Amino acid sequence: MHSAETSAPRPRRFIAAGPLTGRIRVPGDKSISHRSIMLGALAVGRTRVTGLLEGEDVMATAAAMRAMGAAIAREPGGANGPEWVIDGVGVGSLLQPQQALDMGNSGTSTRLLMGLVASHPITATFIGDASLSKRPMGRVIEPLSQMGADFTAAPGGRLPLTLRGIAPAVPISYRLPVASAQVKSAVLLAGLNTPGTTTVIEPIPTRDHSERMLRGFGADLAVEVAADGTRTIHITGEAELRPQTIEVPGDPSSAAFFIVAALLVPGSDLVIENVGLNPTRAALIGVLRDMGGQIEELDRRDVGGEPVADLRVRHSALTGIEVDPAVVPSMVDEFPVLFVAAALATGRTVTRGLDELRVKESDRIAAMRAALEQVGARVTETEDGLIIDGTGGEPLRGANNAPIATHLDHRIAMSMAVAGLASIGGVEIDDTRPIATSFPVFEALLDKASGAA
Ligand code: S3P
Repeated sequence: MHSAETSAPRPRRFIAAGPLTGRIRVPGDKSISHRSIMLGALAVGRTRVTGLLEGEDVMATAAAMRAMGAAIAREPGGANGPEWVIDGVGVGSLLQPQQALDMGNSGTSTRLLMGLVASHPITATFIGDASLSKRPMGRVIEPLSQMGADFTAAPGGRLPLTLRGIAPAVPISYRLPVASAQVKSAVLLAGLNTPGTTTVIEPIPTRDHSERMLRGFGADLAVEVAADGTRTIHITGEAELRPQTIEVPGDPSSAAFFIVAALLVPGSDLVIENVGLNPTRAALIGVLRDMGGQIEELDRRDVGGEPVADLRVRHSALTGIEVDPAVVPSMVDEFPVLFVAAALATGRTVTRGLDELRVKESDRIAAMRAALEQVGARVTETEDGLIIDGTGGEPLRGANNAPIATHLDHRIAMSMAVAGLASIGGVEIDDTRPIATSFPVFEALLDKASGAA
């Protein structure tokens, strides 16, 4: 069971501390970590992974792949930290899981694994925590049903859900109705064990880790990019995946909290090492620079087929901007913390086109509007975004006596922790446990960077 449902809530007050200085290293990318385990578990032979994110979401993926036959072990490793060793079963050979697959809080695990199961002749039941059980699965049920899989879901296409996979599945050509890397990936992963060519048409590009990694593992995958930016991705099954040695780069979505914290806290000068800068993930940095943020890329290099750099971030005076809706998919997880930056900027920040934020681990538009209002920010909620009038660099008032409701959402908790650092009275979070889904060492790194540890 997900720890946030088996232990008591763990509230914490985050208060202004020293400037963020020195060097920190954020854990491995969550998206790449999930995919490393899934593809390793489907390859024939032994995949080795360093830098894997050891968060609850990724562990839910590992437990599910074990339940379907893969052997997955953590070994002490060497200079690069622990090594995860995965002995795969081969595409087409996933075993029938004996129990429901508990996905905890993780939408990525659920949707991508639904894709894998859909084209195998097995049946799996997916369950999750209260947050995940509210999230829409119809977006994945729809294309996977077209491929021949059969579903029984809770009302509204939600968890608990039972999926009866089929082999051979039917290859489809599917145009994504929402900009979602999870839906794209579910269809591509189903295509791995589907004879013929499965096609996904993506009018608005989303993170492309699945495409990069499927190719790296030897799948027959081709991408065409049209003049208007539409991407058409073809995968031809049935694939045979070759095991890989993977070094997972640091997660830009985790680095985001430290980038914003260092920009906001006076005197900060922080280096965040090994941050993944895949262009389909890195738009926050450009937006913050446009607001006046001093963010420097040092030692740009390649790690595991992804662009990476160390980021030097210094305290900066920020100015509000209108965020171009076109960049939303490339920073979809970073809006909660961008809202915090906007709350301390000079002038108005306008965000639009954020409909997808309403179906994340929480409704992040409503949750951040309520949370920021509670700490003294001036915020207006629209149908698809927030309009924020910043303090002009003055710290926020901080929370009144009620703790901030984080709704089992790790990114709300971490964003409001950052708000606490930039507040007069501090910010009390109702529950820090969900942070462990994506960033178990967040609090320790924050204490280290601000000189408290
Ligand atoms: C992810 C895709 C995004 C993102 C999530 C991880 C992935 O979700 O929010 O944190 O690894 O594919 P959507 O596809 O729902 O936008």
